[in-house]
This record gives sequence, structure tokens and C-alpha cells, in this order.
Amino acid sequence: MNRPLVAALPKGRLFGHALHLFQRTGIRLRDDQGESRSLLFSDLDNRIEFVSLKPIDIPVYVETGSIDIGIVGSDILRELDANVYEPLDLRVGMCRLVLAAPTGAHISFADHLRIATKYPKTALRFFQERNSQAHIIRLDGSVEIAPRLGLADAIVDLVETGQTLRDNNMMIVTDVAQVSAKLIVNRTSMKIKTAQITPLISQLDAIVYENH
Ligand code: PRP
Repeated sequence: MNRPLVAALPKGRLFGHALHLFQRTGIRLRDDQGESRSLLFSDLDNRIEFVSLKPIDIPVYVETGSIDIGIVGSDILRELDANVYEPLDLRVGMCRLVLAAPTGAHISFADHLRIATKYPKTALRFFQERNSQAHIIRLDGSVEIAPRLGLADAIVDLVETGQTLRDNNMMIVTDVAQVSAKLIVNRTSMKIKTAQITPLISQLDAIVYENH
């Protein structure tokens, strides 16, 4: 009997989607697992050990092999550039990474813009590709407040419903990237645990196909 797979689940907005996808592959979980604060738990048949992590930490665990597989947003993967196998776009948690500014502001790539963001590498690349000299300011959350407080001219951040931008009198200037949840797999685990991982990928692939 193989050791159980170890799978990372992202805390936050993707957590419910991730649990639900695994359940649809036939993984049986406690009914109240979604509400538990336990960071490590197994399914009822001990096939998979799940670890709940901050999304930003998932790629490093999977890249090093401490965790075999994980679900994480493409925003995070783009930012961290992790060396992991990415077999599947799960097509849940869809949102956009955008450049946004206070409503009515004139944003020109010719200006030396100050940009607040949780995604400094992605933002820097975006501006460099437009030959724009942005000064990137890394923040850890509530990024929409930065222009109002005079810290930045604009932000690069996620937009899902648009409510946070509206409530903070901001507008979308342009898209930076489309975002969705991805399945990621450690490159060595993919080889030595093929018998466990390949059927799981096929099942998830079929579920994604059914959903769309
Ligand atoms: C995310 C994102 C936006 C907001 C967008 O923040 O950074 O602030 O959600 O969602 P909306 O378009 O549906 O309003 P999160 O809630 O993760 O908190 P944070 O700002 O502290 O990162």
C-alpha cells in the first residue's frame, strides 16, 4: 500500500472550491470538514492527507516535495514562478488581475506611476512590457486604500465581483491577467506516485469538463 498523497488546500476564497472538487472525485470527508480549523486532516479512507495553507506558501511546499499536489490560484503561480508541474486548469475561482485607479484619474504609462500591489513581480513585468517606469510598492492586503492615503497612484490587484473597487471609488484601467485555480504537482511525485496521481488528474479533468 502506497503512503497517502499529501495535498495542499488554499485557505481563503478557493478553499470551498478545492474541497468540493476533491469530494467529487469520490474522496470522502467529514461532513463538517469545511468548518474545521484543523490544518492537517485525512479523508475517511486515508487516501489523502490534506494540509490547509496560505495560498502564497503552497508553491514552495509543492516545489520542494514536502507536499505532493496542491490547488492554488494562477495569480500566485505567476508571481512565484515555481518549478512545479501544472497539469490542469480547474476553472474555478475565476477572477481578474487588473490595474485600477481612483475613479476619474488620468493614468498614463508615460508617467512614473507608483503602484501598490500584493504582486510586485507580476506588476513590474506588466509595466516593463509597456516600457513604463513604475515604482512598485509591495503591500499585503487592503491594497485599494493605498491611493486614497496618498501612497500610490494606482494598484494591481484581484477583482472578482468588483464590489471592493466600487466601495473605494476606484475604476479598472486595464486587465493584467485572467486568474483561475490550478492543480500543481511536485515533479518527482508525478513520477514515483504516478499510480495515485494520474487517476486523480483524470478524474479532476473530467469534472472540469462536466462543469463547462
Ligand atoms: C481580494 C482582492 C480584492 C478583493 C476583490 O482581497 O485583493 O481586495 O478580494 O474582490 P471583489 O472584487 O469581489 O470585491 P481579499 O478579500 O483576499 O483581502 P485582502 O485585500 O486583504 O487581500
